[in-house]
Amino acid sequence: MADMLQSIDPASGAVVWQGAVADHAACADAIARARAAAPGWARRQLDERVALARAYAAVLDSRREDLARLISHETGKLLWETRTEIAAMIGKVEISIRAQAERASTTDSAQPFGRAVLRHHPHGVMVVLGPYNFPGHLPNGHIVPALIAGNTVVFKPSELTPATGAAMVDAWHAAGLPADVLQVVQGGRDTGAALIDQDIDGLLFTGSATAGRHFRRALIDRPGVMLALELGGNNPLVVWDSVTDPAVLANLVVHSAFITTGQRCSCARRLIVPAGTEGDAVVAALVDLAVRLPIGAGEDDAFMGPLIGTAAAAGARAALAGLVAAGCTVLLDRNRVDGRGDAFFGPVVLDATGVAVPDAEIFAPVLTVVRVPDFTAAIAAANATAFGLSAGLLSADAALWDRFVAEIRAGVVNWNRPTTGAASAAPFGGLGESGNHRPSAFYAADYCAYPVASFEAAAPAPVPIPGLG
Ligand code: NAD
Ligand code: SIN
Repeated sequence: MADMLQSIDPASGAVVWQGAVADHAACADAIARARAAAPGWARRQLDERVALARAYAAVLDSRREDLARLISHETGKLLWETRTEIAAMIGKVEISIRAQAERASTTDSAQPFGRAVLRHHPHGVMVVLGPYNFPGHLPNGHIVPALIAGNTVVFKPSELTPATGAAMVDAWHAAGLPADVLQVVQGGRDTGAALIDQDIDGLLFTGSATAGRHFRRALIDRPGVMLALELGGNNPLVVWDSVTDPAVLANLVVHSAFITTGQRCSCARRLIVPAGTEGDAVVAALVDLAVRLPIGAGEDDAFMGPLIGTAAAAGARAALAGLVAAGCTVLLDRNRVDGRGDAFFGPVVLDATGVAVPDAEIFAPVLTVVRVPDFTAAIAAANATAFGLSAGLLSADAALWDRFVAEIRAGVVNWNRPTTGAASAAPFGGLGESGNHRPSAFYAADYCAYPVASFEAAAPAPVPIPGLG
């Protein structure tokens, strides 16, 4: 009998979805179907694929409230936030159509012998493995451009969010997409591994750096497989500002570190401030705000929900205990929320100045503060990571920003804005352990097709040979 999978609402403990796990044979079958469907889908006119993508957006729009509620149940994210997730998924379609036109279109220029043509071809069969934190928006960010480019896709949602994955694929099929052009298979890592075992042309992955490292190694001898890795970060936020109200700075820190209960790859994990009274004022304002942040679920008028589940919360509590054991000082600890279950985990602020803490992502609302003597030390501390996803500077000093944006190594570097809230209309990706130089969002078109450059002459004609007259 097939293994079964369940997803659980982390706020209520209710079962949201249950179904069979796809085994090796089911994965082989899904890839074979995708392979068989690939030539026909690639041969369709781009206009036809674009029209289907627009029809998909219309289906999402007609189901937007149901989908937002489903994601809220399955992830514990607040409804106001999952509504924005659906809006981002709908918006992604027009952005992807534009990106395809700007970055992967066909161009044709006249030459003395005929013409030079640049075309882009789909890779073929793409596997998409999704994370749980934006279970619709992030896989959608791979699937929409992959399908527009002419690839077929087999999608495995996170084992924590199978219902959202199934609902997204259902919206495509309701829009008229042929069943084998996009398929969903359910399961955990074994199912992901079984998909990658097959004859595939691409793996588009959003998830942890640990898994990303595994895929780099697993595919090292398969250069024909396009590997796009969108991974985590250990993101720094530097506050260097003696003129702005500390409460304003604290607001931006909270939006950087604690939004989505810290479950965004772009969340600030390290707050770097000047040693002394200026830094003290920022940290005091941060704690004052973070202690009051409303925590709730579903439709509650709150800022943060639970983590994805009790296992994630237990992992975050273990990481927190490790930081305290290493010597960090607790400035605020709301890792338990009165009257709520174990999955609820509020903001935690630790002072890590002078403490050797692991360069690792804790995917939860845990922020470490580091106090440094000057701005040069702040930049050095910010760059002291093997990751390089997002970074931010809060400062009214434009000269500091000029220096920051030039010297920080990260794919997203913001000024007086939260580190979170990445734009779909810009590239989104990171350096080092945060990715493999295949940014997603607007640049996803680049990894969904490969360029083919051609010189074309309508008939063979001799090319002069120097010395032969
Ligand atoms: P995860 O790596 O645990 O899992 C992601 C997906 O990969 C899941 O579908 C999982 O089943 C599959 N998977 C994991 N290991 C596998 C293996 N060895 N073989 C086959 N399949 C495997 O990630 P998660 O916990 O779901 O998501 C959170 C992580 O994603 C965080 O690290 C976060 O920073 C990162 N993330 C990155 C971005 C980005 O765009 N850079 C965006 C969102 C989340
Ligand atoms: C994420 O992809 O995890 C979040 C990006 C964002 O902050 O919008």
